[in-house]
Amino acid sequence: MQRLQGKVAIVTGAGSGIGQAIAKRLGCEGAKVLINYRGSEAGADETRRAIEACGGQSVVIQGDVTKMDDLRNLVDTAWNKFDSADILVNNAGLEIRSDFWDTKEEDYDRQMAVNLRGPYFLAQAFVRRLRDAKKPGRIINISSVHEDMAFPGFTTYCCSKGGMRMMMHNLTVELGPLGITVNNIAPGAIATPINKALLEDKPKLNALLANIPLGRLGTPEDVAAMVAFLTSDDASYITGATFLVDGGLMRNYHEQ
Ligand code: NAI
Ligand code: BGC
Repeated sequence: MQRLQGKVAIVTGAGSGIGQAIAKRLGCEGAKVLINYRGSEAGADETRRAIEACGGQSVVIQGDVTKMDDLRNLVDTAWNKFDSADILVNNAGLEIRSDFWDTKEEDYDRQMAVNLRGPYFLAQAFVRRLRDAKKPGRIINISSVHEDMAFPGFTTYCCSKGGMRMMMHNLTVELGPLGITVNNIAPGAIATPINKALLEDKPKLNALLANIPLGRLGTPEDVAAMVAFLTSDDASYITGATFLVDGGLMRNYHEQ
């Protein structure tokens, strides 16, 4: 069943990992997809081909979410090519490791620029066009279990995701009257390039697996399935919530 026929979706960071799986899934559910990528055009092309194989339509568009012109261009391209932009998935992100006492100013700024400032102003550009057109919409932010849970060594990352959590809470209230829903998806540990170092470190990986009640890492497709639901008509009354896709990681506690 194609649940997103007639919809247009923008997915940032859709040339790899979770964003790629989301773009593919939305495209195969019938949405026309704007596949944003920053660096890896090959990855974005792979996403486009997968959507084509499902009989879907998409456009690949280069853009850096830290640049205001690129954000506006993403939304404008959606409207110019497909006459709408109904779904925004703020997925692009990065994770910079540093102990608190060593954090450099430029790393703090970059972390916030990509993970929080970009989603904020992209959502703004997305909402302005919908408001002018008097159309409803859906915003999904890919945050993390670390919008809530501490992650020592990654304080700037947690600040960015915690900020995304409050952004979602506020936008729920401000955008509800416009018919725009806003939800976060909080993945746990998903096997993607962002976790390369961890995936290559067996002892660390095993320690992490021991913390996940379902006993495995998540897949990008696990996250994409939640996006497909939250952007479908079945989720029209759902706004202001964070949905864990984490195999139980967040709830885990053991006494040895
Ligand atoms: P990934 O590294 O494959 O994906 C991140 C994507 O963001 C890449 O395609 C990258 O090119 C893009 N990106 C980075 N900076 C950008 C910029 N300035 N402009 C445009 N695009 C940019 O890793 P993954 O895991 O797919 O990450 C996607 C999102 O999921 C991130 O926001 C991450 O924080 C979040 N997440 C990932 C988890 C995991 O365990 N893999 C768990 C929880 C959240
Ligand atoms: C991080 C991953 C981490 C996962 C679970 C995500 O937000 O990007 O590096 O494995 O949370 O802790």
